[in-house]
Amino acid sequence: MKVSQAMKQQLVERATAARERAYAPYSHYAVGAAVLMKDGRIFDGCNVENAVYPLGLCAERVAIFKAVSEGSREIAAIAVVTANGGSPCGACRQVIREFGEETTPVLVATPDGTFREWRLDALLPDSFSADDLEP
Ligand code: THU
Repeated sequence: MKVSQAMKQQLVERATAARERAYAPYSHYAVGAAVLMKDGRIFDGCNVENAVYPLGLCAERVAIFKAVSEGSREIAAIAVVTANGGSPCGACRQVIREFGEETTPVLVATPDGTFREWRLDALLPDSFSADDLEP
């Protein structure tokens, strides 16, 4: 699915707004994400930490799980925003793969709206997916 430059910019804006809602009192590293689904819907998320540290969840997975729980399963593109342009963690890359494709655009942005763009398979080469479970 072709995602326009204007839509990419909008996705980054949604992720930037979501980042303002980050609950990150332990790491102080605020992350926002927004995922465009193939049905045209956009879901956003922020990281949500916990006093029991391992229970925290990354912004990307919050956004994706919101989409899936609302019945939307096919990712067209995803944006993630951090203060320093940090890239999605390995766990989130795998979850993007579950609901995306090797070609899915991943936008790695900073709050000023600038972003680097990757195909998912550049961030997660030779990935494992549901296809690998087929006999
Ligand atoms: N974090 C994300 O939300 N997404 C990532 O891809 C990397 C890390 C969060 C988890 C934790 O709340 C904080 O950033 C520091 O690791």
